[in-house]
Order: sequence, then C-alpha cells, then structure tokens
Amino acid sequence: MSKNNNEISTDGLTFLEDGEVLYSDLYLLSETDEKGIVEYASDSFLKIANMRVEDLIGQPHSVVRHPEMPRAAFKSLWDSVQAKGFWTGYVKNARKGGGYYWVYATVLRSIDKNGKTKYVSIRVKPSREDIKKAQELYATLD
Ligand SMILES: Cc1cc2nc3c(=O)[nH]c(=O)nc-3n(C[C@H](O)[C@H](O)[C@H](O)COP(=O)(O)O)c2cc1C
Repeated sequence: MSKNNNEISTDGLTFLEDGEVLYSDLYLLSETDEKGIVEYASDSFLKIANMRVEDLIGQPHSVVRHPEMPRAAFKSLWDSVQAKGFWTGYVKNARKGGGYYWVYATVLRSIDKNGKTKYVSIRVKPSREDIKKAQELYATLD
C-alpha cells in the first residue's frame, strides 16, 4: 500500500478523496441474460465494484448503478443493443460500500450455447478528458 497526496493505492486500485476509484486493470467484463440479469463478472470487475460473486451474479445489472447516471443513457444502451446489437458509452458506477468509478463500455449482443440471447459488456478506463465531457453531457440529461 502507498499513500500520496491524500490518495491511497492498494491492489491496483487508487482511492481519491472525493470517492472516485481508479483502476489499473485493462478491462472489466460482465455478461447478462436478455433481461440484464448478471451471469458472469471478471475478477477485475468484482474488485472495482467491491463485490463478491454472490453480490452480483443472479442480480439485475442495475445493482451497480450510480444515482447520477441519467435514465436516457440506459434507454440508449437497451434500444441500441436490441436494434443494432451494440452500444458504446461512458458509465459512472457506484462501488459497494461507497465510492464510484467511470468506465467506457462496449455492450454487445451475443447468443449462448443454447441459442438464447445474451449481452456482454467490455469496459476500459476512459481518459480524464472523456470523463469530463461525459459528466457535462449527463448533467443535461434526464
Ligand atoms: C451487458 C450489460 C452490462 C451493463 N452494465 C451496466 C453497468 O455497469 N452499470 C449500470 O448502471 N448499468 C449497466 N447495464 C444496464 C442495466 O441493465 C440497467 O438498465 C441500468 O443499470 C439502469 O437500471 P434500470 O433499467 O433499472 O433503471 C448493463 C446492461 C447490460 C445488458
């Protein structure tokens, strides 16, 4: 663990004073069924979400939703993955126990081995500039 300018870093995570958590993992993965119930999450996603498998698997993906995220963003996500099979966008998620983290998510529609529709989200770390732009845009949305 290291401490620097009111930042605490441990296990690839950096905790900023205002609650933001930065991560060093390259990507955070999760998969849902066609209704958005989580069926898989990578260890990197569980770590940044501060969740155990049982907190997330079998739950609606909205368990990680941050209250500041506009409904319009998720309407766009669902409309787009259902119509076109993919969506990309910026998402601020709430961390269990407090804090938050930003991701740039690519959500894709896929088909499981039984022929059922499923969705996969691959998240990477956005730049500070992209986070600022997303924040400004989302402040104008419902
Ligand atoms: C594959 C996939 C990944 C998702 N990942 C997130 C996520 O990380 N955070 C989030 O708030 N919503 C995520 N969603 C959207 C949620 O299903 C949900 O629409 C959103 O949290 C808003 O909640 P609500 O629809 O109950 O209002 C994801 C959806 C899919 C299909």
